[in-house]
Amino acid sequence: MTDTTATTTRPWLDVALPVEERIDLLMAEMTLAEKVGQTHQVANIDPEADAETIRAGRISSSLYASGATGGNERDEGVLVGSIDAAQRHAVEGSRLGVPLLFGRDVIHGHRTVAPIPLGLAASFDPDIAERVGEVAAREAAVEGVAWTFAPMVDISEEPRWGRVAESLGETPVLSGRLAASLVRGFQGSDPSDLDRIAACAKHFAGYGLAAGGRDYDTVSVGENTLRNLHLRPFKAAVDAGVMTVMAAFNDVDGTPMHAHEHLVRGVLKNEWGFDGVVVADWNGIGQIVFQGVAADSREAAALAIRAGVDLDMVSGAYLAHLEELVESGDVELALVDDAVRRVLRLKFRLGLFERPYAARPGATNAPTPESREVALRAAQAAHVLVKNDGVLPLDRDSGTVLLSGPFVDDGEALLGTWTLDGRGEDVVSPGSALKARLGDRVEVSDGRFSDRTLQQSRRAERTVLLLGEHPSRSGEANSVTDIGLPHGQLDVLRAVARLGKPVVAVVYTGRPLDLGEVLDLAAAVVVVWHPGVEAGTALASVLLGDVEPHGRLPMTFPLSTGHIPTSTHQRPTGRLIRADVDHEEGRYLDALTYPRLPFGLGLSYTTVDYAAPTVSTSTIPTDGSLTLTVTVANSGERPCREVVQLYVRDPVAQVTRPLVELSDWALVDLAPGQSREVTFEVHAEQFAYTGRDLTARIDEGEVVLLTGPDSARLQPVTITVRNDS
Ligand code: NOJ
Repeated sequence: MTDTTATTTRPWLDVALPVEERIDLLMAEMTLAEKVGQTHQVANIDPEADAETIRAGRISSSLYASGATGGNERDEGVLVGSIDAAQRHAVEGSRLGVPLLFGRDVIHGHRTVAPIPLGLAASFDPDIAERVGEVAAREAAVEGVAWTFAPMVDISEEPRWGRVAESLGETPVLSGRLAASLVRGFQGSDPSDLDRIAACAKHFAGYGLAAGGRDYDTVSVGENTLRNLHLRPFKAAVDAGVMTVMAAFNDVDGTPMHAHEHLVRGVLKNEWGFDGVVVADWNGIGQIVFQGVAADSREAAALAIRAGVDLDMVSGAYLAHLEELVESGDVELALVDDAVRRVLRLKFRLGLFERPYAARPGATNAPTPESREVALRAAQAAHVLVKNDGVLPLDRDSGTVLLSGPFVDDGEALLGTWTLDGRGEDVVSPGSALKARLGDRVEVSDGRFSDRTLQQSRRAERTVLLLGEHPSRSGEANSVTDIGLPHGQLDVLRAVARLGKPVVAVVYTGRPLDLGEVLDLAAAVVVVWHPGVEAGTALASVLLGDVEPHGRLPMTFPLSTGHIPTSTHQRPTGRLIRADVDHEEGRYLDALTYPRLPFGLGLSYTTVDYAAPTVSTSTIPTDGSLTLTVTVANSGERPCREVVQLYVRDPVAQVTRPLVELSDWALVDLAPGQSREVTFEVHAEQFAYTGRDLTARIDEGEVVLLTGPDSARLQPVTITVRNDS
């Protein structure tokens, strides 16, 4: 029990009461105008200009404000350091004292920037994802941020779409498991802890199917595909306790997601029992008008509140119209009450009523050795070696190296897309890291390639070319029609390769690229994504072999732009060409159709042999399980961290099922010459899918379990599921 005077006049402040009772007590006192105020989120907050609105209880939340105290500086229009001053108006100046909730996009690290989410996904490592979330939450909380709009769990097989950079890969089990880890990292076991913040699974739903890979575009998809693929990582995030979910900008089969009552209220809230907040995306309610499904913002507000969108991000439609919509009888009060209850539940669970102010004298969010260690582990794990003729690792003791390309000293670029709080000066660049390790043996030619690069390359024994995309080419609203390397880069690679000495290509990217010629010309290729503050340290450690490369591709790399989509989602057609693996037969007249680099691929500096998988029993009941064992042996001379992958294929089902789908994996450390038996507990529920009637089912019959180092090199074992066994 806190201050008794306060709890006499404001009984909802009594921490001894259950949250739902506290919400009842508070809502019983609220006017309709105050309730509607709780559904309104603004972009920025200015404690002076917005004082009256806050005191009137007409702002619930802000999505960009950051910084506990201060408030004089402006950073791109956002008042920095205004949080506690604004909060004082809400807590001490408004009638009921409901605190404001400050959100912010803390997407892949706050100040200590980690790899972009697609790079984090390459780690296949739930523990690293959780640590990354934890560090980001602590740093954001120091700035008064109580809520992040991450993780993004949109499933996509569309590399043209810039937002794949922000995704956790193409497959639901990887995306869902890493999302659950990030949610745990952000929220901890008690999100009211000082160093934790609320997470947000986004964008619900189908956003990764935007037509043509054009951001925000329309989505045509059936509910079976949604349930068997796109909704699954959201369900995993909800099961992990994610406190909020963001609606997607797109429509699904004609209905804007901000108006999609069946999916938002029906599936997410009612069927799955999600009791958190559904937040609109930026002006997403207003955009229902642009989508041509509401005549004006009043109608858009009515559609969105009915659909189950609780908090209006910046459109102002709820603030302007909800009261009148209720008073006129067009919208039931119960719908507004449901939204308000959810917003208040979030604020209570975050402990904002007990601890509304953020200022923590002496606390800093500057990177520490500990936070950098997490970022370094994550960046190392994001390095995916996709080709090596033996040139890597580079000799630590001899040989000269030319390091060249646009990313050599560009710290800011290596932070990647979506870093509101990262700073270029915190980044260890590849140039400085390699210099620190190799001293005079490394020559650095930064900036643009030139003829001098060729001269330098001729002198050096090895050339490491840093190629790929600037982060401004991926992320939101950055789609491309061609997934080739940016202009000019292949010319340089060709010219350097022509000199006849081994070239190592390091590829920074936010999306799968067409790496055909790079793979032909370079002796080794490492895909690094955008790795964050430890970019250089991580690269040096992998190139020099202090750390064995152990990342795996979380998305398929197609042969070319024209081959999109190519992914593990491929389902069997009536014609038996296995486009996922068949290097002989094509589905086009002018090209074959296998992936350039299959999902799950990643080499190490050694070789690993896989035996055929065996199972403890070949028949299990629909609620049973078995143990699958696969022996992996390091047959080379260096240690490695192997990502042993388990896939599933259901040969006969009610609906077409993927040719292979990742179902589980294990990270296994192997010393040179060591062999290990890796076991997987396989539960029949891993074979569950949504059938023709849109309900979940586990069929009797055969299921193929496949193990191997990636999705294209698998060995099968067939088991049978039976009800009577
Ligand atoms: C739009 C983006 O789609 C969303 O992911 C982001 O969180 C919001 N803007 C807020 O910045």
